[in-house]
Amino acid sequence: MSTPQTDLAIWDIESVDPAKALQIRAMREQVQADPETFWLEQAKRLEWERFPSVGNRSTFEDEVSIRWYEDGKLNVSVNCLDRHLKERGDQTALIWQGNDPGVSRQLTFRELHAEVCRVANALKSLGVKRGDRVAIHLPMTVEVVACMLACARIGAVHVVLFGGFSPEGIGERLIDSGAVAVITCDAAKRGAKTIPHKAVIDAALRHTGSIGSVKNVIVVNVSDTSAPMTAGRDHDYAELVAGQSDVCEPEIMNAEDVFFLLYTSGSTGKPKAIVHTTGGYLVWAAYTVDVTFPAERGTTHWCTADVAWITGHTFVVYGPLANGSTTLLFEGLMGWPQAGRWWDIIDRFNVSSFFTAPTAIRALMRDGDDLPRQYSLASLRRLASAGEPISPDAWLWYYEVIGQKKCPVIDMWWQTETAGPMLSAIAGAQKLKPGWATTGIPGIFPSLTNEKGEIIENREAEGCLCFDESWPGQTRSIWGDHKRFRETYFTFSKGRYFSGDGARRDADGNLMITGRMDDVINVSGHRIGTAEIEDAVATDHSVAEAAAVGINHDLKGQGIVVFVVARNTKTLPSEAHLSKVICERVGRYAAPEKVYLVSELPKTRSGKIVRRLLRKIASNETDSLGDLSSLADTSVVPALIALVQKQL
Ligand code: WTA
Repeated sequence: MSTPQTDLAIWDIESVDPAKALQIRAMREQVQADPETFWLEQAKRLEWERFPSVGNRSTFEDEVSIRWYEDGKLNVSVNCLDRHLKERGDQTALIWQGNDPGVSRQLTFRELHAEVCRVANALKSLGVKRGDRVAIHLPMTVEVVACMLACARIGAVHVVLFGGFSPEGIGERLIDSGAVAVITCDAAKRGAKTIPHKAVIDAALRHTGSIGSVKNVIVVNVSDTSAPMTAGRDHDYAELVAGQSDVCEPEIMNAEDVFFLLYTSGSTGKPKAIVHTTGGYLVWAAYTVDVTFPAERGTTHWCTADVAWITGHTFVVYGPLANGSTTLLFEGLMGWPQAGRWWDIIDRFNVSSFFTAPTAIRALMRDGDDLPRQYSLASLRRLASAGEPISPDAWLWYYEVIGQKKCPVIDMWWQTETAGPMLSAIAGAQKLKPGWATTGIPGIFPSLTNEKGEIIENREAEGCLCFDESWPGQTRSIWGDHKRFRETYFTFSKGRYFSGDGARRDADGNLMITGRMDDVINVSGHRIGTAEIEDAVATDHSVAEAAAVGINHDLKGQGIVVFVVARNTKTLPSEAHLSKVICERVGRYAAPEKVYLVSELPKTRSGKIVRRLLRKIASNETDSLGDLSSLADTSVVPALIALVQKQL
């Protein structure tokens, strides 16, 4: 492996292009001086049925109301497809590379448009209407994109569900969102394996029972696996879609109509559905892709994120298509049938903009430098990373070995709630700094506060990452729970959006993310709330109580460790059993690294579990346990340390 340069303080990569720097500076100055005009100009990136006369009408005060372009009217699918037909109808919109190396498909804007219209008509034929929620539970296939855009076409609200969620997790989300239909497949392909999808939906629907509102299930044939069909409820996708017309009049939506829901985890309670609306979201998707990570026409944009995450929504589907770029979707795994699969895809499809997550970069680094060097990678122009902090080592490896020192590496910070990148260097306009997400993009005003939510004026500082102004893609609410929305994001620092992350600021104003400040664990880029894991474990009759914490993990970024107190000390549950319980109730992606059976958890006098302490003990950082005086009983600490050290 190459030795990364370690003296990062003087690191200064990529020359700044004066014209680009000037252009970005002008944007920053304009948005500072006259944000309304700036954001209305950005709205011109789209085709509106009625162009909005107002930009931002949001307030973070009182009940909190986020509203953008509210008298505008538009349709998302028209912006991603129809408006490109005249000039670019025969250009490839979507490249799909299957799990099997020999299988791929390319759809032009015209072909994708026709497929979207057919699916939209199919949904209508089942009675799906504007405003209805449609759950989409599909792997990375052409159909997932077609279904998302078909919902957009008829004004239905899509709720894309991650393939790794457990049946119970899906059932809860179907109830919470009130979905009327689910689109799934027989089984997904993952390397040599197939993962049942339809069976998971059947189990989820049994779980929802009579409180569920799903009337129809559409099943895409992905892997020729037989899946039992329930008459009257289940429909074969191909049969349903084949006979439909490829003309479907778009539903004209109000800018503030709900566009999609996307579930994510918070520190407390059940997963929450983040609400995004139509006009603001799409302006933001088009703007952020173009400003931070453009793809020249005729080249290919590839973001490896699953479409079930926000990066998949914005950087795989809506952002590239709204900009008329070609986007690539890969169904398979990076190391199957052999290592180097991604590099082969980059060469084969002329990928110019490549975006992935630090967890993937760490895994790829393990394959060594020789493997990527067997590929040309000459089409690459820019690289990006998001989802978790990228270490300077991983950044430099990505830059040197994949980008061959000719592509800027853009570290972007975003969240499901922000819908697009908020912090990101703009290549060519500013210096890059490995490990730093650098600055707010034009129009975004980050600030740091102390733990009381008071603003920190000093340039060099460490604090809580907040944002002072709204942006078009800001989440409008938590579905069905505006109170939780307000309390989660707007009460920490009055008049600001609080991200939940900590950050450090250098003398030049660059920001480096230090990680979550709440009880959210980031495992390979998946957000998991400690409460979700604890609730899952606590449902097992053998468990009295549990506490989950995140510890550093070389590959995953963070791993989960759970401390469990058994109900009955004579019949202790096994670690394997508890791990299975978590996978069954939350999903495989939440499998813990370690479960410790302990006799007591450290608590404050008021009975709150001190997770900070458990985190230190689980990480074997026992010489920096800090002040223990708030504990009700300090004698639990040495017992916990002894137990963990014995098993390390
Ligand atoms: C983390 C993923 C450091 C952060 C797009 C945030 C990051 C959470 C970065 C959101 C980054 C995202 N550097 N940390 N560049 N990007 N994060 O909602 O803790 O799945 O709050 O959205 O990921 O995760 P989410």
